[in-house]
Amino acid sequence: MLIQWSPDLSVGNKKIDQEHQRWIEILNGFYEGLKSGEPKERLHELILEMLNYTRYHFKSEEEYMTSVSYPGLGEHKAIHQKYVDKISVFYEKITSGKMILSIEVTNFLKSWLIDHIKGVDQQYADFVEKQ
Ligand SMILES: [Fe+2]
Ligand SMILES: [Fe+2]
Repeated sequence: MLIQWSPDLSVGNKKIDQEHQRWIEILNGFYEGLKSGEPKERLHELILEMLNYTRYHFKSEEEYMTSVSYPGLGEHKAIHQKYVDKISVFYEKITSGKMILSIEVTNFLKSWLIDHIKGVDQQYADFVEKQ
């Protein structure tokens, strides 16, 4: 397994924590698929699934931050947008054969997810906790 969710990744909200768990599950599925040599069409499907879920989760999280009047919303949204743009370009490159899938790619996705939850998402968790 690539990533395992643990309470140190919690943002203090059950729904958002469940979404992070699902996101991790999808990323792990992609990693397993890559490692076990699934055909590239299948891997492309898995990346698309991850991209779509990422979009869904970001929207959901932004709604949550709006609901708690989180002051860092604008900045957080911009970080989400930048990542979605990056993964979209990356998906196009992969499916058009301009980029090769590798474990380094998976490592990037993994580090981004963990760093984002711990460095950015947990900031709204701190804000809510102090309310
Ligand atoms: Fe976020
Ligand atoms: Fe998040």
